[in-house]
Amino acid sequence: MPLPLVELHLHLEGTLEPDFILERAAANDIELPWTTLEDLLPRYEFTDLQSFLDLLYTNVEVLRSREDFAEMTRRYLRRAAKAGVKHAEVSFDIQAHIRRGVPMDVVVRGIRDALDASVEEFDITTKLIASFWRDRPVEEAIELLTAMLDAGYAIDAVGLDSAEVGYPPSLFVELYEFARSKGLRAVAHAGEEGPANYVRDALDLLHAERIDHGIRSLEDDDLVQRLVRDQVPLTVCPLSNVRLRTVPALSDHPLPRMLALGINVSVHSDDPSYFGGYIDDNFDAVASTFNLSEEDVGRLTLNAVDSSFLDPEAKARLRSQVRLGNTQGSLVED
Ligand code: HPA
Ligand code: ZN
Repeated sequence: MPLPLVELHLHLEGTLEPDFILERAAANDIELPWTTLEDLLPRYEFTDLQSFLDLLYTNVEVLRSREDFAEMTRRYLRRAAKAGVKHAEVSFDIQAHIRRGVPMDVVVRGIRDALDASVEEFDITTKLIASFWRDRPVEEAIELLTAMLDAGYAIDAVGLDSAEVGYPPSLFVELYEFARSKGLRAVAHAGEEGPANYVRDALDLLHAERIDHGIRSLEDDDLVQRLVRDQVPLTVCPLSNVRLRTVPALSDHPLPRMLALGINVSVHSDDPSYFGGYIDDNFDAVASTFNLSEEDVGRLTLNAVDSSFLDPEAKARLRSQVRLGNTQGSLVED
């Protein structure tokens, strides 16, 4: 039995597979700069975060109807179920859709259609994270979050993503205060391309409960000590870091160092259709590259369970499944 996996760092827009993008473009009569797989596939060669974001946010143009958003989400959940995912906290970027005239209702209701059927259809529990672009004004994010909450959509947490360098967490204090006042949980991308200082600011100023990526934290010893002491969750995406060139190669990835230091690190997929793999592929890649022990793999999974926004009973259930999975064979041996 494979280990039950918990996905905590996944952008739904980053799960659109190339064939689905082209199929939706044709069906919705959308003109993309590419019309065939031969045109599209060479674009998946990234030089940095921005080069990826440019492709990601061009391809989302093909999403138009509520059913498009539901189908994107359903396809992700189906693939996640195959990977052994039992719980997924997924994010979406409302600004990517509003700016091209797609109504909020189409986006969020479509995503919710699929999430609300997920336990029954895929045996996966879910949470939904509304992520905001850090290269847009904080006022815009607050306005959009207000509208989403007023509409009554089930949103569990806020996040912060997109271009990092030059857009520090301090710009978003007001958004996170507002989100907290509404009872939402809080995550934030930090320390992916940006400096360790952004991780500290995301904790101190935004009170983020989880840091997405955070790998550059290792450049700051005081911060590392704090992350270990407070067991701050870092959701790390190794294949993403390689493809966006935040690390030169997988063998240079700091994951083993993070584990050895006792940081609360877990492994996730970020934008799987862009970075060459889903959560199981990320686990397989790090397990074989670093020859991780069963204990290490179990630790990564338990960290994800503990770092999720599930209630204590649901966490306890998953924890016992991880222990059972470990005694019956783990991903490493599959
Ligand atoms: N970083 C920042 N923004 C993003 C990412 C990422 O890895 N993926 C999708 N949006
Ligand atoms: Zn991300």
